Order: sequence, then C-alpha cells, then structure tokens
Amino acid sequence: MWKIEQPLENRNGVLHLGGVNLLKLAEKYGTPLFVTDEARIRQNYRTIRNAFARRWNKFKIFYAVKANNNISILNILRQEGAGADCSCVPELQLASLSKFKMEDILYTGNYNSNDELKEAAQMGVTANLDDISILDRFAKFGLPESICFRINPGFGKGGFEKLVFAGPDAKFGITEEVAKKAYAKAKKLGVKKFGIHMMAGSSVLDADYFGQVTERLFQIGKSIAESVGIEFDFVNIGGGFGVPYKPGDEDLDIERVAQEVTERFKGQFESSSNPPYLYAEPGRYLVCDSTVLLSRVHAVKFTGKKFVGIDAGMNILLRPALYGAYHQMYVVNKLDVQKREKVNVVGQVCENSDILAKDRDLPFIEEGDLIAILNAGAYGYSMSSNYNTRPRAGELLLNNGEEFLIREREDITDILDRQRIPGRLLK
Ligand SMILES: Cc1ncc(COP(=O)(O)O)c(C=O)c1O
Repeated sequence: MWKIEQPLENRNGVLHLGGVNLLKLAEKYGTPLFVTDEARIRQNYRTIRNAFARRWNKFKIFYAVKANNNISILNILRQEGAGADCSCVPELQLASLSKFKMEDILYTGNYNSNDELKEAAQMGVTANLDDISILDRFAKFGLPESICFRINPGFGKGGFEKLVFAGPDAKFGITEEVAKKAYAKAKKLGVKKFGIHMMAGSSVLDADYFGQVTERLFQIGKSIAESVGIEFDFVNIGGGFGVPYKPGDEDLDIERVAQEVTERFKGQFESSSNPPYLYAEPGRYLVCDSTVLLSRVHAVKFTGKKFVGIDAGMNILLRPALYGAYHQMYVVNKLDVQKREKVNVVGQVCENSDILAKDRDLPFIEEGDLIAILNAGAYGYSMSSNYNTRPRAGELLLNNGEEFLIREREDITDILDRQRIPGRLLK
C-alpha cells in the first residue's frame, strides 16, 4: 500500500499538503490546479547535494528546466545554489530572467538551428553539443572558451522504453569515434577547456546503474583524453534519478548512487592535482514529489465499467497517455471512506488515450469529489497543451502555510493570443 507521507497528510479524512487543506485550495483557486510545496523542493535538492558533495567536493547540480519551467521554481533552486540545464533558447532566457549567472547555465540542445546557436553563443553559456557538425556551425558565432559534447555511452536505462536516451536507436549523443574527431577539431580551433556529458535515460530507480554507466563514460573519456591530448574540466553524468510513482516502487537510494558514481571519480582522479568537477543535471528528482495536481470530478458514468470524468486529462498531465505512466491518486475529501471500487479515471479530451488510471481501486466516487494526482511536479505543467482548445492549469506554491499563485489558469484570451484573421484584428 502507498502511504500518505510528508509533505502530504491525512487530517480528519482530508488530504493536506504542506499543512494546507487541499479542498479549500480547490474551492478558492479552481481546478485543475498544480499545488507545490516549496520545502520539499529544497529538501530534495539538499538530499542530492549532500550525498555527492560529501564524497566529491567539486560537485555541482544544474537543474533541468524542462522538468518544470515555472520561474518561481527556478528561483528556489537558484537560491539553493543550483545552476540551470537548458534545452533551448527560451529556457536559456528563463534562466537568465531568474538571474542564474551565465557560468551557471548549461545549454544542451539537439539538432539546433543556427539562430539558436547564435543566441547561445552571444549569451556566453556553456554549450553541450550533440554532434561534430554542430561545432562547425557554433564556432562561426565566436570561439567558446569551453566546449562539451554529449556522448552516447552505448546503453541507457529508463522508467519506460521511451525514456531510454542512449544505445543504437537513440537520437542523442555521439559515439566514441565521432567524439574523438569532435574534440580534436575543437582543440584545433583553439578551444581551451573541455567537458564531457551523457544523459542516458530518465526515471531510473536502480542505484547500481548510475555507477555502471559512469564507468562506461570514463572509459570513453579516458580514450578521448589520451588520443586527443586534452583534460576534462568537468564530467556531466546527466539526470535520470527516479522517484517512486506506484505502489511497490522503492525509493532510489541516492547515497548509494553517489557512492557508486564518486568511487569511479576517486579511482580515476584521486591522485590528480586538478581533478574535474562532477556535474549532475536532475529534473524529476528535485521537483516531482513536491507537487499534486488537483482535479474535480464533473461526471460519473456507468457502461459496465465506472468512468470518473475529471478536468485534468492528457492536456493537463500527458504522462499516462504518453508512456502509460502510473500516477498515484487520492480522493482528497474521502481519505477515510471504507467503501472502495475499481474505476477508470478519464479526462475530457476527445481521445481514447485520455485515461489517467485504469481499473484503479479508489474510494466510492461521486460528482463534485476532488482528486489529487501525485508526483505531478515534473513533466506535468511543462508537457501540458491547449489540445481540444482547453486552457492550461494554474500553479500554486505553498511556503510555510502561505499561498502564492505562481501561474494563473489560462482562459480563452490565452488561446486567442497571437491568432489573426486575415485582414482583421481579433482584439
Ligand atoms: C539533457 C538532459 N539533462 C537532464 C534531464 C533531466 O532528466 P531527469 O528529469 O530524468 O533527471 C533531461 C531529461 O530529459 C535531459 O534531456
């Protein structure tokens, strides 16, 4: 059984987050609504930082902005000391608006356009390039002081097949052979500092895997360093640190991950006078379990099965439709109700993939009940869309019992924004 644990609490049969009654929040702000507990983000950050930095003090975390791009959340992680890992120019702009220093921003794009490369070069962020061909185009906009390439280590791991980012079919990274040519070319161009990167998969709960894939990156890195005659200033092991989503999932043992990874660093570099920085760029682990998605039950229907229709479908939380992902759910106002039944929880979108939970065992549900969907802080809002012309959800931040609306729920004006009728203005 899944246990209700901090920052969630069962108070008199009603689900609370960070000490705040979620029923009241839904009434006050409406649904669908993402509600985030700030303290949990800070705690998650410190868990990773402490585990790694205790073992290897040249350690730095770059928050993967794609997981949750709300600027208030970026601000929290910047205050904690994180850098930002950005996948595109708008993410770079967000990080800059959030006042991350340029030296604390990494840019890992893929299949970048010249315009994107030019912008990144002008901002002066550290670029992590996905191919040797991109180096040619990037260098045209000015020689960077430091360059990094994304390596495909040949294998990866992920919570779903689609979350494996390495191996022969992955669209990311380069092989050792291509990487040797790429670093040699960068050296010849006059680049002085080098990093090496991998991001081989996401949502991984197996601690041993992180050591294994780091070992492989080291083998590749060593071979590149020797053949090209360079040293690495940083080794970036990417993100991928998983969180438990479903009953039976074990917590990822972060201490063990840090142990496995830093052991490799010590083995390789302990006697070095200038060992490299160890970088990690977690997204999910930092923000996922800080947030619940509140959604109202609007209609209940029986067709042999019971369908519970809520206002957060695949437009608001895509992961179940995209990967078949499981998200734990509670009926906020019925935590102590004993009568239970199996139901399909569905959204309002006109697709049959718009199913949030299938045959899920939940307390007896009626119209007007409130559902809390857990682990909605990562790849929740950031993957949401306006499909079916539905406005995106609001986002609320809780800090020590105080509420801050950090993103208003959209309405028709957001949908119409930037639309034009030929020859006539809409507003
Ligand atoms: C380059 C890169 N870094 C970091 C991340 C963050 O991954 P995670 O949320 O699994 O930690 C991703 C996710 O796709 C990524 O593509």
